[in-house]
Amino acid sequence: MSVARPLPHDAAPLHVSGKARYVDDQPMPADTLHLAFGLSTIAKGRITAMDLARVRAAPGVVAVLTADDLPFANDVSPSAHDEPLLSDGTVHYLGQALFLVAATSHLAARKAARLGDITYEEETPILTIDQAMEAGSRFEDGPVIWSKGDAPAAIAKAARTLSGVLEMGGQEHFYLEGQAALALPAENGDVTVISSTQHPTEIQHKVAEAIGKPMHAVRVESRRMGGGFGGKESQGNALAVSCAVVALATGRPCKMRYDRDDDMTITGKRHDARIDYTVGFDDDGRIQGIEFVQMIRCGWSMDLSLPVADRAMLHADNAYLLPNARIESHRLKTNTQSATAYRGFGGPQGMIGMERVMDHIAHALQMDPVEVRKRNYYAPADTAVPDRTTPYGQEVEDFILHEMTDALLETSDYSARKQAVAEWNAQNRFVKKGIAFAPVKFGISFTLTHLNQAGALVHVYQDGSVQLNHGGTEMGQGLNQKVAQVAASRFGIAMDHVRITATDTGKVPNTSATAASSGSDLNGMAVKVACDTIRDRMAGYLAETHQADPATVVFADDTVTVGAATYSFAEAAALCYHGRVPLSSTGFYKTPKIEWDRVKGQGRPFYYFAYGAAVTEVAVDVLTGENRILRTDILHDAGTSLNPALDIGQVEGAYVQGAGWLTTEELVWDARGALRTHAPSTYKIPACSDRPPVFNVALWDAPNREDTIYRSKAVGEPPFMLGISAFLALGDAVASCGTDYPSLDAPATAERIWHAVRRVADV
Ligand code: MTE
Ligand code: MOS
Repeated sequence: MSVARPLPHDAAPLHVSGKARYVDDQPMPADTLHLAFGLSTIAKGRITAMDLARVRAAPGVVAVLTADDLPFANDVSPSAHDEPLLSDGTVHYLGQALFLVAATSHLAARKAARLGDITYEEETPILTIDQAMEAGSRFEDGPVIWSKGDAPAAIAKAARTLSGVLEMGGQEHFYLEGQAALALPAENGDVTVISSTQHPTEIQHKVAEAIGKPMHAVRVESRRMGGGFGGKESQGNALAVSCAVVALATGRPCKMRYDRDDDMTITGKRHDARIDYTVGFDDDGRIQGIEFVQMIRCGWSMDLSLPVADRAMLHADNAYLLPNARIESHRLKTNTQSATAYRGFGGPQGMIGMERVMDHIAHALQMDPVEVRKRNYYAPADTAVPDRTTPYGQEVEDFILHEMTDALLETSDYSARKQAVAEWNAQNRFVKKGIAFAPVKFGISFTLTHLNQAGALVHVYQDGSVQLNHGGTEMGQGLNQKVAQVAASRFGIAMDHVRITATDTGKVPNTSATAASSGSDLNGMAVKVACDTIRDRMAGYLAETHQADPATVVFADDTVTVGAATYSFAEAAALCYHGRVPLSSTGFYKTPKIEWDRVKGQGRPFYYFAYGAAVTEVAVDVLTGENRILRTDILHDAGTSLNPALDIGQVEGAYVQGAGWLTTEELVWDARGALRTHAPSTYKIPACSDRPPVFNVALWDAPNREDTIYRSKAVGEPPFMLGISAFLALGDAVASCGTDYPSLDAPATAERIWHAVRRVADV
């Protein structure tokens, strides 16, 4: 079987030889136009005059459009209809698109876009969490509150209490391929769009609205993205819609790609947040009651912020049973980029709040932080306990972190190394070490229940080759390879017989975004269903012609065995073709068991949980705050992995990205609301040299309890949060400088570490 094998990414040779085609690599007709936006230079106000004469006169400019020139809907929002493609006169953030330039080259369009003479009536922007809280600037009438038991009463009765605040920054996606789209006008006013998107159906939907046509007039194709990380769920809409509108207006193909600085200035990022916590616990470190107030900065439009903030609430417990909990969530509206999906989708923000509390309790009790965590863990699966419910009422039926934690502590040699760190710190004044453990429990499924569906289209050709299509998109995570492995396994054929074509709204309709880590769960199942339909038809026909029982027909090793006869798969396909057996099928899958009431905050939003655990050791120079990761050990649960090589790659990449979020990646806005960190010169993502020099990643090999595709588990997002262990280790190193709790904020840049050291000690 092809599943469960560590095969390389199907496009790896193309990636490393530069032959993989991204949107910008598509061969273009000679008369293609290139687009660029003219951007606002203030964060909030009204446009009183817009003089675009210099833009129109610039070399190479063919057309300039403002909101008034748009033929139909002026909206690129995923659902709330609150995000005009081009400003309708109001300015909501610095970097908002005001007008659109079409020119004969990318550079000509960008140069011309700088020449707009805009006059504004400027207003004072709301930029920060404090300003938004004070002004009551939010997306819903009031905060969302979910609770279990009576947290205030439990805290009041508890032997000990603690309060604190954790601030955390946002994060730029920094996909290597920036946002890009191109549109080819077709006859009839129809259009084909090629887009770097995680969500082809939404691109189709928004383009259809913008050109005033039904969805059938728009075909969207996505071959691959050079990374998405959530940043291409909704942020590609503006480019695709612009290209389609101008293509139909001019009759010429149109391409748009954001330069890196524009990409960072225009598009949304991870939500930054502040979490206030108050916890009551006993002398053994067991939590009795807890209250979280989560303040989430959403930016100017709603985008996906409500489900992101929901997911932060849904992960406020992380791995711990909270007998009494109250979680209050503020979705704050600010005059900044509209924060959007980013790997973990709010989960990381919620989870790190809980991990901070664990750390704080351990510090207060002078207990080993791992011991405090273990005492608060949910009960192991299949044990009788009175309570295994999350604050939102879902039973945690599959909890495996007790065993995983013990295994990781053993393989990482945690106790001895913790001892060694303490000895090092006792002897060294200027370089301090820290070590920390962090677990992850991440809920798998879209919380919007209807999104948990997928379709596939599989063809077996008469030569025995198989072409398949599914609704998921490839962004480097290896989804196509996993899905191809499923198809090869169902037909019992080698991988080179299977080809996955570009994602295409004309082949599989009404797809969900490839997101929530559910790509392989959903599309793998849909492909399995389609393959099995064809296989059963083939088995039925061959059994009939050989007077055999269809159930005895075997598909394995590139052959089909029926009674005494054995055919190659190609021969079997040819026989079936001549027997007029339909060799093409769709497949469909919807996730069972889930139901969720987001207003009440009750139900079973998740089909299952994915687990992981990490131990990270760091060193900090207390004189400069400089720091580095020395070693990381990870044990991650991918169920019965569909492809251990790809899954380990996902775990490694996610950890490094998670650690980047919490250490060096810092977004800085100035008092005018201008993002000052809009290029790699000022925004520091982890480099190869920032990987842990010792990096031991292993998969926890046990089947998913739920009936997922080959009992695998989703792996895309959960390991991102293992990066929290790096943040906690830095806190541990700082704590060793003194006796107070360091209350380090994120990102823990050298500067923040330097200040934290000075808070706890006289250096
Ligand atoms: N891995 C790579 N290489 N590139 C990406 O853009 N996106 C992540 C994760 N892993 C991403 C990635 C995110 S945010 C999600 S939701 C999942 O992949 C989506 O793919 P999956 O559902 O197939 O795991
Ligand atoms: Mo991932 S944030 O769900 O695209």
